[in-house]
Amino acid sequence: SLTEPALIGLAYLLGSIPTALWVCHSMGIPDPRQQGSKNPGASNVLRIGNRRAALFTLLGDISKGALAVSLVLWTQPSATLVTLSVLAAFLGHLYPLFGAYRGGKGVAIFLGCTLCLSPALLLVQLLIWASVFALTRIASLASVALALSTPLAAWYLAPEWLSLVSLIGLLLIARHRDNLVSLWRGQEHRF
Ligand code: G3P
Repeated sequence: SLTEPALIGLAYLLGSIPTALWVCHSMGIPDPRQQGSKNPGASNVLRIGNRRAALFTLLGDISKGALAVSLVLWTQPSATLVTLSVLAAFLGHLYPLFGAYRGGKGVAIFLGCTLCLSPALLLVQLLIWASVFALTRIASLASVALALSTPLAAWYLAPEWLSLVSLIGLLLIARHRDNLVSLWRGQEHRF
């Protein structure tokens, strides 16, 4: 049927929604792709803007992932369709149709997807991110820790999604390569 490709396409489009750009534009903050780390995500909106704008960006990016996955789950899909839809939403955020395919790094939308797949896994992700950030004040280090630890946590909490979250973990690490270079040089931004 046409439903499955349509759901995957819709997930990609939802992932493409440029939350950070809309929030910054509407709150008089410069384009996050031009300032700070040049990443359109909540961390950089906090860096170049303010906490309220960062919170709206975070919640918006979480919500679009959660919406994409809930729409699919509502159709009582196969595990394959869920997997493809999560990947479509995630890749939509990284390579959005709008904004010349220059999207974000994918941490917040991953959280939104996990919320629908396994709330327990989301709880672990939030704990890891918040602890590493509290200790180091470095957003990217918290995100890399999240990328590495999510598959370990999924092994116990959501084994059915282990390969999916491992793949996303790898994509997250790859997406943070500039941050990893800065971390290695001791030049990564601390909040
Ligand atoms: O979620 C993105 C975060 O891990 C890093 O963002 O702006 O510090 O490169 P940024």
